Amino acid sequence: MAKVQNPYFPQEAEILEVIEETPTIKTFVLRSQEPIPFKAGQFMELTVPQLGEAPFTPSSSPHKPERMEITILRTGTVTDALHQMKAGQLVGLRGPFGKGYPVQKFYGKEVLVVGGGVGLAPLRSLLYTLFHNIDKFKRVSIKYGARQPEELCFQREFEKWGKLEGADMDVTIDVPAPGWTGKVGLVTTLLDDLDLDLKSCYVVSCGPDVMLKFVTLKLLDVGFRPEQIYLSMNRNMSCGVGKCGHCVVGRYFLCKDGPDMNYADVMDVPGLFG
Ligand SMILES: Cc1cc2nc3c(=O)[nH]c(=O)nc-3n(C[C@H](O)[C@H](O)[C@H](O)COP(=O)(O)OP(=O)(O)OC[C@H]3O[C@@H](n4cnc5c(N)ncnc54)[C@H](O)[C@@H]3O)c2cc1C
Ligand code: FES
Repeated sequence: MAKVQNPYFPQEAEILEVIEETPTIKTFVLRSQEPIPFKAGQFMELTVPQLGEAPFTPSSSPHKPERMEITILRTGTVTDALHQMKAGQLVGLRGPFGKGYPVQKFYGKEVLVVGGGVGLAPLRSLLYTLFHNIDKFKRVSIKYGARQPEELCFQREFEKWGKLEGADMDVTIDVPAPGWTGKVGLVTTLLDDLDLDLKSCYVVSCGPDVMLKFVTLKLLDVGFRPEQIYLSMNRNMSCGVGKCGHCVVGRYFLCKDGPDMNYADVMDVPGLFG
């Protein structure tokens, strides 16, 4: 008889490595008892034993499910505890939940990836997916911003990403900082003179609500249509399987219909950006 996985029952995973990305963000490299196949954009519920669980989207390549990476900003109870954990300790994982990005829809098109702060974590999984089959996309253009240079996540990979055939990358920080010679200004300033086919390009964005709001307004302003824009809607989630109602936005359950939503589907929801 086929093994039925209980969606509420976490499987044990060992922390293999902890990578310090920024003063407040760490990547946890995890090996679960069985590899957990996932698609870019799907999320996991991660349990800290005796404490609780919280939702996170893997930041690693879906092509390497045996070594899942989750990149986590320290912000409260569960994430504080996680940041104290070391290699060799155990956590729980259940999932994956949600639909993931509609990657096949992007075939033959330009893809604009816009991230802010730790929002680059879920997007990194998408980037690895796009890079894996880069010939299938017309271009992958990455725009990323953080408040200060030391808050830029995955800096060690920027040069490689920017030099990939078929890809380019622009990075900015919010305000000038000593030693920073790159661009300065909010991530929306990187959307001013896009060298992309605005009629057919798809955009995927992930970051804090306020960033998502202003990125969306800017994209509409420069000529994108709502149907071209996908937003990662990171509402509080609990069950992950459409039962508890914590994640309802309009007529959608983000845990099942998202968490990445086409803006055309949610643009009329009051208070969409908090
Ligand atoms: C689908 C999904 C994917 C996510 N992926 C990632 C990821 O890859 N990396 C990452 O660092 N975080 C991610 N988050 C956010 C993460 O789930 C929260 O930061 C985490 O739940 C906070 O738990 P806590 O117990 O540490 O904080 P709490 O003690 O519960 O709260 C501390 C503070 O964080 C705020 N907070 C709580 N939950 C959220 C939330 N969902 N979004 C924003 N603020 C919140 C609270 O309002 C409070 O101000 C994701 C959230 C969702 C829904
Ligand atoms: S998280 Fe419970 S219904 Fe979506």
